[in-house]
Amino acid sequence: MCHDCAAVNGAFSEPANETAAGETVTLGTAAAGATRRSFARFLAAGAGLTALAACTPDAPAQVPPSSSAPSTSPTVASASPSPALDPTTVSPTPAIQSPTEVPAPPSAAAAMPRKFSLTDPASPWLVVNKHRPLVPAAYVPADLVQPNIRLAVSGEAALLNSTTAAAAEAMFAAAAQEGVVMTLASGYRSHSTQVSTYNGYVASRGQADADTASARPGYSEHQTGWAFDIGDGGGACSFQPCFAEQPAAVWAKANAYRFGFVVRYPWMFHPITGYYYEPWHLRYIGVEAATDMATRGINTVEEYFGLEAAPGYP
Ligand code: DAL
Ligand code: ZN
Repeated sequence: MCHDCAAVNGAFSEPANETAAGETVTLGTAAAGATRRSFARFLAAGAGLTALAACTPDAPAQVPPSSSAPSTSPTVASASPSPALDPTTVSPTPAIQSPTEVPAPPSAAAAMPRKFSLTDPASPWLVVNKHRPLVPAAYVPADLVQPNIRLAVSGEAALLNSTTAAAAEAMFAAAAQEGVVMTLASGYRSHSTQVSTYNGYVASRGQADADTASARPGYSEHQTGWAFDIGDGGGACSFQPCFAEQPAAVWAKANAYRFGFVVRYPWMFHPITGYYYEPWHLRYIGVEAATDMATRGINTVEEYFGLEAAPGYP
């Protein structure tokens, strides 16, 4: 399948007034230092957080992967709700820096023509973050399917949009060929599921902490079908900081771009993305863009598309 082509039916229109080329600067030394200090505090809290996460009601169950399911096309309505709690369990103590303290991303937008919309939820280049809610807030992808990959979840959470599903099938197969076990740990999440997920985080951790780990309803990539979380078949590090060192995450970090994916919330870029490191959260943007980002060493889609940093909700 031509992922890019299939992904963008009706999504080619480029919105006006989207480019933020004039607003971008390079990472400053002071800001970078502040980021490192913030993250050092995060690391210091890491061990306790891991233990906390394992005991947290929000932590996802260690669901054994089911066998690969046929590539059917269940509708959202027929998909049984899955717990699909946002598996993000890295919930560092320090608050994310305020917009005035964070570096603005360097502009990279000029390097590649703006081929697809950054605002249409059906576009592979959609950028949703704490400054860029989904419109409409209750958006439902029209082409949700269940990919033929190893699943650790069922129902709604086992769905992706059709383009992402095809890319995931190719990526999982390539990983398997290299002996890397990769599972789909959390896929599509409806707006109503995100309400439950986010509220669960708020109830257990408070809103400030919840906002470092779980998107508010209407702000999650999971609602678009363009993103999913990977697991490794039930290892103890699933959705934990140590997942970054597991073969699935190491492989994905090095290879996901070849299939059109980026690690959406990379290490140390929370002042730009708004979320701490999620080595399990992959986002499809197309092979061309993902490869371009990797080649040029650009870590976030905010930077790549020349958009402002989104460390917190306005
Ligand atoms: N954990 C990511 C940010 C989400 O909730 O979409
Ligand atoms: Zn995720």
